[in-house]
Amino acid sequence: MKIAVIKETRYAENRVALTPQVAQQLIKVGHTIYVEAGSGYASNFSDEAYEKSECIIANKVTVLQQADILVKVNAPDESEINLLKEGTVLISYLYASFNSDLVQQLNAKKISAFAMDAIPRISRAQNMDALSSQANLAGYKAVILGAAQLGKIFPLLMTAAGTLTPSRVLIYGAGVAGLQAIATAKRLGAIVEVSDVRPETKEQVESLGAKFIEVKSDEAAKVEGGYAKEVSAAYLEKQKEAVNKSLFQADLVITTALVMGKKAPTLITEDQVKEMKLGAVIVDMAVEQGGNCELSEYDKIITKHGVQIIGPANLAATLPQNASELYAKNIQNLLNHLASKESFKWEFEEEITQGTLICHEGKILR
Ligand code: NAI
Repeated sequence: MKIAVIKETRYAENRVALTPQVAQQLIKVGHTIYVEAGSGYASNFSDEAYEKSECIIANKVTVLQQADILVKVNAPDESEINLLKEGTVLISYLYASFNSDLVQQLNAKKISAFAMDAIPRISRAQNMDALSSQANLAGYKAVILGAAQLGKIFPLLMTAAGTLTPSRVLIYGAGVAGLQAIATAKRLGAIVEVSDVRPETKEQVESLGAKFIEVKSDEAAKVEGGYAKEVSAAYLEKQKEAVNKSLFQADLVITTALVMGKKAPTLITEDQVKEMKLGAVIVDMAVEQGGNCELSEYDKIITKHGVQIIGPANLAATLPQNASELYAKNIQNLLNHLASKESFKWEFEEEITQGTLICHEGKILR
């Protein structure tokens, strides 16, 4: 099949959907790959590297018109969709429930669209799970960003001129991003404390050498399909009481708390920020879903009450080389699952197909 890769055009997007290495593996099993010139440049993959892997470099219009399958990071825009043949397969992030116009446009063109953001959380789909592969890198980068803004170092340091105490890092949410943030902050020598509504994360947090902050409540967060469900306002209040002492002592706070299909929970209010240490830093990784700190602003670093608050846009894309390497492997694994070199299998009852196929042959499926 002819697989097409084009340059991503979304703001702050440096990733590319296929790397030369993964492209080469797909070519080996019989696919042909068309790449728009310059697609990989921002992720450090040159056109020459794609050519060496036997990809065909061409302009965007040619690439889109040739495609049997278009692979992307972000969904294509209207002008890109218009260039595709009817029946083309699209694999990219879609966030279909928030983008009904996009789904209508794809469906009107009879595109079969698979959403990378909808891979089910089951063990056999782990190697296709782009949300996890990207959150892992984002968790690392959040610590590095925060450390760079702090006026102090992470580890305990004994010098002839005196002893420096270690920094205290507080992390909200011990999912994929949070666990990587814990590991990274520990490696840099900080004291790390963690809050999560899923009690089962306690063991994972402790195995990384961090302290889990217990919330005294009979309510335990319900989990559906691997995602935490919303907890009650009363629980959030108890969580606040339990975590405040650590929050007011923290040098760096990283928030990663998300609730599937909802705005991110507000875990740090302006009143709490007022009580934080002068010079403390908050990195709000949930800013794209509305933020865990009520003061965060999307893609800005602001200072309020002596605390710097960072609301980073698209963090994984600030590590575009690694992020593209992992995303490309996720795409390859999904493709290997869905299709042979000649055609797609269209197993509509199969769990991964069922979870990710948004529209097909002019029908919207989810
Ligand atoms: P996520 O991005 O949906 O949420 C991040 C974290 O925020 C979660 O740990 C959640 O419990 C926590 N959270 C929600 N409300 C909170 C609050 N009020 N205070 C503090 N924390 C709060 O979750 P993520 O990172 O995508 O993964 C969640 C779980 O799913 C993990 O245990 C992960 O290992 C599992 N998973 C399994 C996969 C598979 O089996 N294929 C793939 C991806 C994740």
